[in-house]
Amino acid sequence: EKGGYDHFMLKEIYEQPSAISDTFRGRMRVSDGIIKMAGIDDNLAKLLNAKRIIIIACGTSWHAGLVAEYIFEELVRLPVEVEYASEFRYRNPVIHQDDVVIAISQSGETADTMAAIKLAKEKGAFVFGVCNVVGSSISRETHAGAYTHAGPEIGVASTKAFTTQITILSLIALKLAERKGTISNSDFHYYLQELERIPEKVKVALESDNHIKHIADTYKNARNFLYLGRGYNFPVALEGALKLKEISYIHAEGYPAAEMKHGPIALIDDQMPVVVIATKKGHYDKVVSNIQEIKSRKGKIIGIVTEGDSTVKELADHVIEIPETEEFLTPLLTTIPLQLLSYHIAVMLDKNVDQPRNLAKSVTVE
Ligand code: F6R
Repeated sequence: EKGGYDHFMLKEIYEQPSAISDTFRGRMRVSDGIIKMAGIDDNLAKLLNAKRIIIIACGTSWHAGLVAEYIFEELVRLPVEVEYASEFRYRNPVIHQDDVVIAISQSGETADTMAAIKLAKEKGAFVFGVCNVVGSSISRETHAGAYTHAGPEIGVASTKAFTTQITILSLIALKLAERKGTISNSDFHYYLQELERIPEKVKVALESDNHIKHIADTYKNARNFLYLGRGYNFPVALEGALKLKEISYIHAEGYPAAEMKHGPIALIDDQMPVVVIATKKGHYDKVVSNIQEIKSRKGKIIGIVTEGDSTVKELADHVIEIPETEEFLTPLLTTIPLQLLSYHIAVMLDKNVDQPRNLAKSVTVE
């Protein structure tokens, strides 16, 4: 059942090239420049007239929502708010009739997300669900939706659900952007082609597995980790830290790289591994100077870089390369090494990777 892998988590990490293809298969016709998704097409007017998008989710799905915030704002030029479902539901949130709420949930059973959906519906918002489990409670409670089609995710630590959520949200953003004219026709076509190439590029990213294993071995006894990123990759830093916490029980924090100087830089010493996502395009020069600041305080740098990078390579203690892609799609690639890093550390520490202590696959209590 684990298909020859030692753990479901590893199997699911390796399934990402096909899971991402399954997410866009039948929905994206690259040669004709068409995105077809029933849940979107049937509600196109509502979506195009939305004044604001509110995304509600928990955990890893919330991180996918944060990536989507950057994507929607950039491509569709719509204001987006991303909320923890558990916070949203216990406030008195301001929701208008022309708000579109997107609820993201792998399991489709998360109690806080469900309660937030009910509240948004009561206030008159249109609620769109992005779920993985077909027929789940959330998929039934929402007005419309789109399944990620990632296949069953058994490992408690979410992996392929995250990348397929980002894929589907990218498709939605691209479709709306094309309709609204907020991106050019040529960019639209180019982005579709680039999205189609992502599964192959994920495969290439997975080839660093052995190299990542060595890095894991070097740092497995660290007490703390920092994860830094900017822009589209700030949420990836949060997600990398969450993965490490939940399966290896090592304390880790994710931060926007530029926030370091406002506090967390005080933590840096020669015992602190710092994972920095430093891909080309994404505020690269700024990230390089953030790396220099960490280096001068003797922190250990693990850089996630674009293939062929030389600047970060010189500064960092280790680099892990990923293929180049369009900036808004980089989270689909930068996430891969972070998943593998946490996986290998947890295995080396002899932790229960697929069923970490105190956690359940779906959180059906409030
Ligand atoms: C992290 C993880 C959790 C879930 C969260 C939301 O690896 O699995 O943080 O992402 O409990 O679950 P869903 O997406 O099922 O609503």
